[in-house]
Amino acid sequence: MTYTIEETDLERQHLLAQFLEPVSLHALKNISLPKQATILDIGCGLGDTTLLLNERFPDSTITGLDGDASLITTATKETTLTHPNLNFVCGDAMQLPFDNNSFDFVFCRYLLHHLRDPLHGIKEMHRVCKTVGTVFALEYDATSIISYPESWAYPKLKDFVTILFADALLGRKMVSYFRSFKLVNICYDAQVILADQNSALKRFYALTAPALGKALLQKNLIDEKGLDEWIKELQRCERDPETIVLMHPTIAVWGTKAEL
Ligand SMILES: C[S@@+](CC[C@H](N)C(=O)[O-])C[C@H]1O[C@@H](n2cnc3c(N)ncnc32)[C@H](O)[C@@H]1O
Repeated sequence: MTYTIEETDLERQHLLAQFLEPVSLHALKNISLPKQATILDIGCGLGDTTLLLNERFPDSTITGLDGDASLITTATKETTLTHPNLNFVCGDAMQLPFDNNSFDFVFCRYLLHHLRDPLHGIKEMHRVCKTVGTVFALEYDATSIISYPESWAYPKLKDFVTILFADALLGRKMVSYFRSFKLVNICYDAQVILADQNSALKRFYALTAPALGKALLQKNLIDEKGLDEWIKELQRCERDPETIVLMHPTIAVWGTKAEL
């Protein structure tokens, strides 16, 4: 896998889910599924997206898949007792362990920009989606991350993810990529998040710097001292009630798998 973030900090993943929930629901409210639909959530992490899908489509059966076995173990422990319609498997988004035409709804959030070949990831999503089922992806486009009062720490974060992630500018390409698979009825929803004090986003960014630290040091993109200063500046902004952060756009795209 090309994944460059250490996901040992579970708080960070839950914070991501917290600030992305309204954005995700805004797009998901447009989706209607058949009764007792089968759903696949690829790159489900701790299962926050799987639970969100369960909330939105309560009579469905949902499979969460992730490449990180420890996240799958935690997701299984935390959710399956209370939600018997959910199940979790460890697997690779680039080679999904499912037959063609298996799911009514194939979903991912913040996964494809980590894949070396996102088009292949979409191809796999398309393959396992049933004919007239829906393929859905929510991705970001790291155009800019800025704050007011201005801090150097946020543009630096944007620069680092642009270098480290397989394609941090994937958001803008998603509609075109979906078209290339002959998906029909393609729709999209683009949003930005403005973060005020006590926001999950500001804390998420402060925790993202240490999570990227190992990869940044390994690639000589920063030294220990620089990393420490960067983390401290993000923590200062997190504590400062005056600092407002404007996140890059998030783009949800969905389309129907056409009949042959
Ligand atoms: C940023 S997290 C997103 C988690 C969740 N979808 C959400 O939005 O809250 C990305 C997840 O994708 C998983 N991942 C990355 N590359 C993968 C691959 N090739 N196959 C399966 N999972 C992958 C990571 O382990 C991580 O849990």
